[in-house]
Amino acid sequence: MSDNFAYDENWASIYEKFTTMRGKVAEADETVAFLERYSNGGIAFELGIGDGRVAVPLSERGVRVEGIDNSDSMLNLLAKRTDLIKAWKGDISNFRSEQRYNLLYCVYNTFTLLCTREAQIACLRSAAEALDDEGLLVIELDVPALDDFVRGQRAITLLTDHENTILRTDVHNPLNQNLVSTLLWFSGASVRRLPHRVRYVYHQELDSMAECASLELTERWGDWARGAFTDNSTSHISVYRRTTAL
Ligand SMILES: C[S@@+](CC[C@H](N)C(=O)[O-])C[C@H]1O[C@@H](n2cnc3c(N)ncnc32)[C@H](O)[C@@H]1O
Repeated sequence: MSDNFAYDENWASIYEKFTTMRGKVAEADETVAFLERYSNGGIAFELGIGDGRVAVPLSERGVRVEGIDNSDSMLNLLAKRTDLIKAWKGDISNFRSEQRYNLLYCVYNTFTLLCTREAQIACLRSAAEALDDEGLLVIELDVPALDDFVRGQRAITLLTDHENTILRTDVHNPLNQNLVSTLLWFSGASVRRLPHRVRYVYHQELDSMAECASLELTERWGDWARGAFTDNSTSHISVYRRTTAL
């Protein structure tokens, strides 16, 4: 699989059903309530906007939202839902915008779809440059959970009901912190095979990379309801601001 992993038509065709079944569509209300508060009445920009799972309800609350995504298929899903959001094709590891934003956000582990440390730092640099002086960058990431691998491999059941069984196989490469994965979705007599690749990051490394991009941590929460981030947290929401003025 190439380094430039992108969501293809196959992913786009199952995305809404998958995120609904995984509870991510229901969760978007809390995500949006959090982000609305941080948008401070200004313009928000989503990195990896996808089908607008978060951007659409955020814009319905009156926040002006723009975004980029590197997948035509995902951008088509968004365009079918709304014409209120300006979104264009772009790479979150290398984007420039004339517009400056109050809020940039990158949720649902999208940041880890950049599979090298260099691409992740480049993303943070591009984001820092797109923020206005008071602007904030919000990143939502899972805490890496690597304790159940056997000889660098594992298979996880993500969901099973009377119609569907969704499994994910992961192969771990500790040298580059990559997980090369395949989602296997069995439904009736059919099976879909959806490849995936991430570079996982612990929060301390995220902070160090953010420092390289002239960003500093201002807040870290364990969930969208602003619960504390603790030893037991399975994800975090990290908020950064620029350390240098424009
Ligand atoms: C996990 S989905 C999240 C979509 C949406 N943000 C959400 O929360 O439902 C990741 C999205 O990021 C996009 N993406 C992945 N790598 C990207 C890149 N390098 N540049 C821009 N978009 C990217 C994918 O096409 C996909 O739409």
